[in-house]
Amino acid sequence: QTLNVRSIEGIASYIKEGRAKKIVLMTGAGLSTAAGIPDFRSPDTGIYANLARLDLPYPEAVFDISYFRSNPLPFYTLAHELYPGQYKPTLSHYFLRLLSDKGLLLKLFTQNIDCLERAAGVPGDKIIEAHGSFARQRCIDCRTEYPDDLMKQAIQDREVPHCMRTECRGLVKPDIVFFGEALPEEFHHNCGLPGHADLAIIMGTSLSVRPFANLPGYCAQGVPRLLINSERVGGLGSRADDVLLLGDCDDGVRKLASALGWLPELEAIFKA
Ligand code: OAD
Repeated sequence: QTLNVRSIEGIASYIKEGRAKKIVLMTGAGLSTAAGIPDFRSPDTGIYANLARLDLPYPEAVFDISYFRSNPLPFYTLAHELYPGQYKPTLSHYFLRLLSDKGLLLKLFTQNIDCLERAAGVPGDKIIEAHGSFARQRCIDCRTEYPDDLMKQAIQDREVPHCMRTECRGLVKPDIVFFGEALPEEFHHNCGLPGHADLAIIMGTSLSVRPFANLPGYCAQGVPRLLINSERVGGLGSRADDVLLLGDCDDGVRKLASALGWLPELEAIFKA
């Protein structure tokens, strides 16, 4: 059976005909740039291009666990800017919520730590925060949790928090996955799900960090994979049933929602 979904209209019909009931979403920082949060790798505006002031040996060091052990201050300087709470979800985030509301979402894999998927109303049990989040924090030595209010204060004051246990006093770090650390158990537990999806939508990611970048490859042959991103990434477009919607995420989402006849509904939850 040929799917004949190689256009955005094709994807929309495929969904409308009820053939996509187990959609897997894979997202990254490009989903949140419209909210005012910079991504990592965009040449001029990305975080890694703007870290000169932190005097790092190389940009990714700010999220590297061994570097953090020797110098945690650059991370805490940046954390101040990245801390959730001051940003609002984008139209694209609400589109993810709409897919969930309509019962079509199997799982959302996100690399983002901004918690904007939850803020848009995607239920927590549908979200795999592959790179962790700011939701909790703990000592990197004895793993003792550290209170939220003290963490908030430390980030506000750009201070490095230390373990509450006086006999430890190790460095405290949010449960964000740093380079050199394992991904959360729930990622490994669920990373086979793309193999059960009937549609994959990949949005706002350069797919340059593994193992997350491997996820689209787990989709079965013949299952359409839609990329909504400003550039082509991760070899998407190499399969007959891949669809590339290159450009701004929110513009792409508007096109898809419009083809689905969902635009008024999407605009309504976005503005609510
Ligand atoms: P990147 O910065 O690597 O990629 C963002 C992608 O989104 C790029 O392809 C951009 O061109 C695209 N983009 C940006 N704004 C967009 C917009 N408004 N509309 C459409 N596309 C847009 O971010 P991630 O792929 O999320 O990990 O990065 C992956 C991981 O690398 C992060 O989770 C982080 C980082 O190091 C850790 O810190 C562990």
